[in-house]
Amino acid sequence: MNILCLGSGGREHAISWALAKSPKTDALYIAPGNGGTEGMALANGGASQNVALDPTDVKTILDFCNEHAIGLVVIGPEAPLVAGVADALRDAGLLVYGPNAAEANLEGSKEFAKQFMDKHNIPTAAYASFTAAEPACEYVREQGAPIVIKADGLAAGKGVVVAMTEEEALEAVRACFEGAFGEAGSKVVIEECMKGPECSMLSFVTNGKSFPMAPSQDHKRAYDGDNGPNTGGMGVYSPVPIVTDDEMAQMVAIMDDAAAAVPDYRGTLYGGFMLTDKGPKIVEFNVRFGDPETQVVLPRLATDLVDVMCAVAEGTSEDIALNWSDDWAVCVVLASEGYPGSYEKGKVITGIEDAEAIPGVRVFHAGTALKDGKLVTAGGRVLNVVALADTFEGARDKAYEACKLIDFEGKQLRRDIGLKALIGRSSWE
Ligand code: AMP
Ligand code: GLY
Repeated sequence: MNILCLGSGGREHAISWALAKSPKTDALYIAPGNGGTEGMALANGGASQNVALDPTDVKTILDFCNEHAIGLVVIGPEAPLVAGVADALRDAGLLVYGPNAAEANLEGSKEFAKQFMDKHNIPTAAYASFTAAEPACEYVREQGAPIVIKADGLAAGKGVVVAMTEEEALEAVRACFEGAFGEAGSKVVIEECMKGPECSMLSFVTNGKSFPMAPSQDHKRAYDGDNGPNTGGMGVYSPVPIVTDDEMAQMVAIMDDAAAAVPDYRGTLYGGFMLTDKGPKIVEFNVRFGDPETQVVLPRLATDLVDVMCAVAEGTSEDIALNWSDDWAVCVVLASEGYPGSYEKGKVITGIEDAEAIPGVRVFHAGTALKDGKLVTAGGRVLNVVALADTFEGARDKAYEACKLIDFEGKQLRRDIGLKALIGRSSWE
């Protein structure tokens, strides 16, 4: 089968790496891809290729699919899903992994997601939504701080403020309505502030059924000790040692309820949970694989990803049986100096081969590009250094050992990925 994967992040490198391993993959294209997705070895002796396509440009994607006899299109990021790219490709008769726009609204509109959760009794924070600043500010004054202010639409992960004071919350409301997030902020969702460790559960969803992947835990703040600004994610591990069996069962049941409510959904549903003292509650749904969660989840999947994705896309849930390795996986993100603020690009990257020579270590690229035959930085999050081992400590040590071997000017990383999990639940109090 010829496969096209849309996207260019670490997530898409991890997805396409898993697809490349399958003997079912005859040709693999990544659009636009990054420095790591070009030239991955395929089981048939071929190699993956990057294609300079815009993942939201339906006409060009369709032409490419026709010319290259594409049998499966995998859509990585949320923007094309929310924009209806999956709908358009399906209408043209293609097999597509990723939900249609109607279901992608679970990520595209926070208000839609909250209404969905209310309707289907899915535990989440109490909320109210507003289309004007004055009533929103009045609600904030009534509720008091801490309180969470969210732009309704897609804001590249930047539209959420967890306000510790009333003044900060009022400021966030005003910023939204003054256009800080453009159209995405013309509606504002205000939520009760929940407390507890966060945990992601990604699930293959098709035919109203959920096939959960192992839980993982992201580190969203830029600096050690969960300080500094929010980022796309600075590190992650899987599974999550602090999750109890009871919490795990509750998360699985919540994903079952969500899947049953979207029978036409064909793709990954991402449950972002907070493990509160009243049980796991949903912070947000995403309609795609997480980044960097995918980088620690898919290397542990022992089942052929092409089989799983085809079954999801076709809606043949009876064909899905997932097997996982018993390994622990830890991923440390190497970022450019200044990220998540402004940063320079074009710094030469060295040492990836040495890092990957450590058994169990794999480096997934994010913001990298090939320039004049050299691998250079091309984004904020540059590399995902992933290590697998039979203990959590072993995986963590190996990931950091590998990070030391990789270099580029301005390399920035958190030194405490997984540290709280090693200490235990008390470190979240
Ligand atoms: P989101 O973009 O909705 O995932 O929100 C980004 C981050 O904000 C989450 O990962 C949480 O850390 C935090 N957050 C969002 N909603 C809440 C909430 N209701 N209570 C506490 N923290 C929240
Ligand atoms: N790691 C968070 C996300 O993918 O949304």
